[in-house]
Amino acid sequence: MQLDSDALAGMAPRTRAALVNSISGFKSANLIGTASASGETNLAIMSSVVHLGSHPPLLALVVRPGGEERHTLSNILATQSYTINHVNTAIIEAAHQTAARYPQQVSEFDATGLTPEWVAGLGAPLVAEANVKLGMRLREHQPLAINGTHLVIGEVVVAIFPEESLLSDGALDLSACSTTALSGLDAYHQAVPLKRMAYAKPELPPRLLG
Ligand SMILES: Cc1cc2nc3c(=O)[nH]c(=O)nc-3n(C[C@H](O)[C@H](O)[C@H](O)COP(=O)(O)O)c2cc1C
Repeated sequence: MQLDSDALAGMAPRTRAALVNSISGFKSANLIGTASASGETNLAIMSSVVHLGSHPPLLALVVRPGGEERHTLSNILATQSYTINHVNTAIIEAAHQTAARYPQQVSEFDATGLTPEWVAGLGAPLVAEANVKLGMRLREHQPLAINGTHLVIGEVVVAIFPEESLLSDGALDLSACSTTALSGLDAYHQAVPLKRMAYAKPELPPRLLG
């Protein structure tokens, strides 16, 4: 099958959204924890987290347009902090439910039964049930003119994960953490590790790590 711009433009909106949300490949499944200036907690599932750089450790997040009704963005801008919590296989249902449009005064923590966890100095709640949890400080906010989305760039200031899932070279074994992957907006996957490849060099053939 081959689709061009006209074919994509002619698709029913929901069908096009389902297709375009899938074609960027497998994505990370994250719960973004925030709190308002007055301390009301909020939790939302988001799959658009990407690595921007390691030193400083920067991650970017794309937040859809929607103004004040986007509680995650308004909370991040108010407190300059947020958390990124990996969705694991045990919390898929609760995590997915956070996408529902609850009114501002309803915390998705209460609505889904997930538990807020606080660490000193961070103005946003972690998710206690997550195995991998990151505390983030807002470093840059860029409204994107092309479609009204917002690029939120944050620095990792706290990283919490099971010690036994840290590999000897510093990488985190995400399968051991039960971290899931997402395709589209509704399909959750469990990762099966295939192989780890050594650092690629022009003068050497591809080779396994270790
Ligand atoms: C699987 C999945 C992934 C999502 N990823 C994003 C995302 O990357 N960015 C975004 O703005 N919304 C994303 N959403 C939608 C939000 O979860 C949804 O709009 C939520 O109600 C936002 O909550 P808030 O208003 O409390 O910020 C996603 C929804 C689902 C189901």
